[in-house]
Amino acid sequence: MRIMIVGAGYVGLSLGVVLSTKHEIMLRDIDGRTVDKINAGISTIHEDGIENRLKSAVSDGRLRACNAMNESGSRDVVFICVGTPSNNDGSVNLSSVESAVDDVLETLPSLIDDYITIAIKSTVPPGTTRRALLDRISSTPYSKKVGVAFNPEFLREGTAIQDALNPDRIVIGTEDNRAFQTLRDMYAVIVHNKPEYVQTSMESAELCKYVANSFLATKISFANEWANLCERIPNADIDEVMKAVSLDSRISGDFFGAGVGYGGSCFPKDVEGAIRFAESISEDVSILRATEKVNASRPKRLLSILRNEVPDLKNKKIAVLGLAFKPGTDDTRTSPTLRVLELLRQTNARICIHDPLVNRMPTEGLCPSDIILTDNIETCMQNVDACILVTAWDIYKEMGLERLTESMNNKVFIDGRRVFVEEEPPKDVIYRTIGTHF
Ligand code: UGA
Repeated sequence: MRIMIVGAGYVGLSLGVVLSTKHEIMLRDIDGRTVDKINAGISTIHEDGIENRLKSAVSDGRLRACNAMNESGSRDVVFICVGTPSNNDGSVNLSSVESAVDDVLETLPSLIDDYITIAIKSTVPPGTTRRALLDRISSTPYSKKVGVAFNPEFLREGTAIQDALNPDRIVIGTEDNRAFQTLRDMYAVIVHNKPEYVQTSMESAELCKYVANSFLATKISFANEWANLCERIPNADIDEVMKAVSLDSRISGDFFGAGVGYGGSCFPKDVEGAIRFAESISEDVSILRATEKVNASRPKRLLSILRNEVPDLKNKKIAVLGLAFKPGTDDTRTSPTLRVLELLRQTNARICIHDPLVNRMPTEGLCPSDIILTDNIETCMQNVDACILVTAWDIYKEMGLERLTESMNNKVFIDGRRVFVEEEPPKDVIYRTIGTHF
């Protein structure tokens, strides 16, 4: 099929690369540098396995990027994959989706051959696909030749390619059976497994995305709340509890990992977006409010564990391990580390951060000049008075607690991701973690 993807960010580029194995892809982005890089076979995102796939797709002519919609020619499917960031009040900003729809509608005559499916993939509040796309198409002379769908994406950063190739389910929200069939046929030839194809209304499909992300975020906060209790109960341990609880076939153990809480570009934004959407229709989602509240308290909890061991942090040198919001990505958006840094700065501690992939301090709420960021773990740990681990990069586990702490001045190690719980800490190390009583 000939497919156009509007928006070459995380979702658009990963999807384009995966679909290009069997389809001809045109990626459209308004950023000229992104277009140039993609056409040179260079990925604009860090994603496992994307570079080689992109290079070969571009050199074989299966994937190309463009700046202007009218460079595309006719297409069987158009995906809208632009960002939906939060407004200041937490509601979802739809301006990029709306302008992408404007652009698609403007070029519609040249995009349609016999029939075209236009699908929104960006995470949008229920009702958006109908209002922003279907209703507008209905008032054009092309309405009979266009199928409209909402097709949520469930891939994770860092494993986007594998997730896209092995989806658990593919949800297609559409009232148009031909659009459903088209998208099913398009996916069927690229996936490595046999996912369930679920046809729903557009509104139910839009809700699916919010419900899935909110549920996973809620699981994390749920585990974190019980982790707090475990810290107060002698001999209790959150992993022991959650592992045993997860053996109940009604409860999956995924996303029960207690720690510093969730971050990234999706969970915080989608939980907040769902709360604002519920408010807009005068409904309260108290569970989601609690999920957010528990998550917001996690960095403070970690700091209080540190302060139990080092009460006065003024001028103390503190190593912070991990700046990305999770391992396997260089993305720092809403990373829990940013809040940890904010709290640490209020204590007048001196801070050094290590991250193997992030090479630039984000400016989000920070004055970066007095914080040292390095990709050299030995440099980071040299003569520090305490260390806080926030992102569970493999390199920390591989080094082991003994090597990691050997050049510390004062060996206080606060493990915010429970990386070393199963390791016997060296005798001279004070090891503390979330979810275990000490
Ligand atoms: C998330 C969803 O998992 C994807 O299914 C979804 O498609 C995506 O959002 C999206 O909406 O685009 P992602 O943000 O890439 O994917 O990251 P996750 O792997 O889900 O992790 C999110 C956060 O939760 C991270 O900060 C991670 O450290 C934290 N987490 C995860 C925990 O604290 N505990 C866990 O047990 C699991």
